[in-house]
Amino acid sequence: MSFTIIDSVPARLNRSELAVPGSHPQFFEKAAKGGADIIFLDLEDAVAPDEKEKARKNVIAALNDVDWRGKTLSLRVNGLDTHYMYRDIVDVVEQAGDKLDLIMIPKVGTAADVYALDMLVTQIETAKRFEKRIGFELIIETALGMQNVHAIAGASKRLESLHFGVADYAASTRARTTNIGGANPDYAILTDKDEAGRRETHWGDMWHYALSRMVVAARANGLRPIDGPFGDFSDADAYRAAARRGAALGCEGKWAIHPSQVALANECFTPSAKEVERAKRILAAMEQAKREGRGAVALDGRLIDIASIRQAEVLVKKAESIGGS
Ligand code: GLV
Ligand code: MG
Repeated sequence: MSFTIIDSVPARLNRSELAVPGSHPQFFEKAAKGGADIIFLDLEDAVAPDEKEKARKNVIAALNDVDWRGKTLSLRVNGLDTHYMYRDIVDVVEQAGDKLDLIMIPKVGTAADVYALDMLVTQIETAKRFEKRIGFELIIETALGMQNVHAIAGASKRLESLHFGVADYAASTRARTTNIGGANPDYAILTDKDEAGRRETHWGDMWHYALSRMVVAARANGLRPIDGPFGDFSDADAYRAAARRGAALGCEGKWAIHPSQVALANECFTPSAKEVERAKRILAAMEQAKREGRGAVALDGRLIDIASIRQAEVLVKKAESIGGS
């Protein structure tokens, strides 16, 4: 291990994060009763410019009046480049900040963006004598944000998670796709011809680099990496495939832009009984190896060593925290 110790943020379930537009208060109660680990009330891109003010009022009323059943609540504010953002922060945090767990900041480009909001929120919290400190979740969704992601991830003690905003990221990098988070037949490899002259097309994951880069920045700073939206809410299988790819890379959860995606996210980011059982067997086998003075042993014909203990412990701990939720 390095002499630099990474402190992880407080554990919080973040398998599913449901987006609820602030302009549609009729969805609030349903979201509160649903299975999402985190709900973010959106003032940004799901809300048209003419509705921004009304949405802000709806959100303040909802934070104070709706029974959220102990759910983790977040507020997505508008970007720092808009004139809406300061009022999103000032109005909502002043009037309902004690009900808010997190603020989601979109299109973060530099560490200074985070610093600016930290300053503003700190002043309001201090003035209002709030006891609970609001955490930040940041969306990495621009080329600038992805370039600076490592500095951004260490920018404030308020940070809890980084989110990959694939839709804006595609726009910012001018990626040739309009399918939010989905596959792209143009991002493929054509195999060489076999003896019979046949060739195959193998689709690739065009988001792999971006998501991996963000996962590394998040984990190196003790934050949760979260995968963002998947636009085609009628395609559960494709959502599952995307969520599983994210989980395989180390993400802790994924957005749900439709209530039907909440259960899919919870399913994909909960370790299966089979995975937990194997992790427990690894721990038992390594315990036995320790007693015998060995650092590595074989289990089911595969090598396991001390690093396997860490992997298995992460998995078992995760399953326990979900079981106890
Ligand atoms: C989310 O905000 C995205 O742009 O994907
Ligand atoms: Mg976005």
